[in-house]
Amino acid sequence: MKVMVVGGGGREHAIIKKLKENKTIEEIYALPGNGGIAADAVCVNIGAKDIAGIAAFAKENKIDFAVVAPDDPLVLGAVDALEGEGIPCFGPNKRAAIIEGSKIFSKNLMKKYGIPTAEYEVFEDMDAALSYLDKAPVPTVVKADGLALGKGVVVAQTREEAKRAVKEMMQDRKFGESGARIVIEEFLTGPEVSVLSFTDGETLVPMVSSMDHKRAHDGDEGPNTGGMGTVAPNPYYTKEIAEECMKSIFLPTMHAMNAENRTFKGCLYFGLMLTPKGPKVIEYNCRFGDPETQVVLPLLKTDLFTIMQAVAAGRLKDVKVEFSAGHACCVVVASEGYPVSYKSGFALTLPTCGAGEYVFVAGAKREGDKLLSAGGRVLGVTATAEDLQTAVARAYRLAKQVGLENGYMRADIGQRALRAYREK
Ligand code: AMP
Ligand code: GLY
Repeated sequence: MKVMVVGGGGREHAIIKKLKENKTIEEIYALPGNGGIAADAVCVNIGAKDIAGIAAFAKENKIDFAVVAPDDPLVLGAVDALEGEGIPCFGPNKRAAIIEGSKIFSKNLMKKYGIPTAEYEVFEDMDAALSYLDKAPVPTVVKADGLALGKGVVVAQTREEAKRAVKEMMQDRKFGESGARIVIEEFLTGPEVSVLSFTDGETLVPMVSSMDHKRAHDGDEGPNTGGMGTVAPNPYYTKEIAEECMKSIFLPTMHAMNAENRTFKGCLYFGLMLTPKGPKVIEYNCRFGDPETQVVLPLLKTDLFTIMQAVAAGRLKDVKVEFSAGHACCVVVASEGYPVSYKSGFALTLPTCGAGEYVFVAGAKREGDKLLSAGGRVLGVTATAEDLQTAVARAYRLAKQVGLENGYMRADIGQRALRAYREK
């Protein structure tokens, strides 16, 4: 079998490493992949947003199965294009990917089907948004409707800050057309949980829960990033809460998408907040999370390719999906200064991994036989263990062996989760 994975970050590296456990796969292509992924897959220089290029490559090279991992190609219709060539895919089509591609769509979906989420208002007109903010309670949350590289959400502490965000989105078009329409929503509080799930529209299987660390610096300070580290499982996500989420959020979302004639097949990601009034949806993603995937997949016991093929074929109900009872921690090694401004092109040396240890490469390029950093997030260093404390210690031991002159990592990944276990 020839498999193609669209994307080129740490998440894609984690997916590729897991797929390699399946011995029916002879070759994996990564489009575009990166210098580190090149150790595990054939990297092809076709960008993840080049839908026509992706489909043409798949056809010419007789690809048997495609995995489309990032949000952009999914929202742009990569799965539709590939399926049009007769290639089975893991990932939602364009009609279903809108669950992430438009915040207004997802908010309206939740309202229509009674799925718990923050109260909200939609605005297409800037002046209306600004005068609404004159009376809105603060803190408040301003969200661009479309994709914005994970930066389209502003949690504003004051009305002035909220208004500035509205102007940046609607007037300055900081995120282009993504900010033409916005959502202003109620500020919620409580621990956040990420739950990725496999679904074929008929069956939905949640994966082990996880906790992201979105801020750049220790103690959850500093600017929002794509994620500086993760742990799985998430200690706040108890069995009771999981059951409640399945009943009030996960299955209703799957059924709602079916009812809208937008059946979702692939990985549906639920970003949840466990509020005093119960779990609520903060966001949906139409794909695996990054860096959640880097802790979730190492705990997956069932063969990933078998699951993905079953999802594509609409027979997920026939597969028993199992996770190990252990814990995982991923520490992101970034370029100093990320996400604001940083330098790339430094020599990168990777540590040697033992059992249950993984170095997922997010941003690197190859120059001769040397690996150089390329991008803000450079590596995701993951370790698994029977308990979280050991997983955290092992991940840090490994991360500290990384050679990268301007390497930066948070020192406290996993500490909040460890505190939550102690307080239980
Ligand atoms: P997102 O880009 O949708 O993941 O949002 C980024 C972060 O903003 C989330 O992880 C939350 O921490 C925060 N956030 C989003 N919506 C809300 C909300 N309604 N109330 C409080 N915090 C929020
Ligand atoms: N880590 C959050 C995301 O992938 O959107």
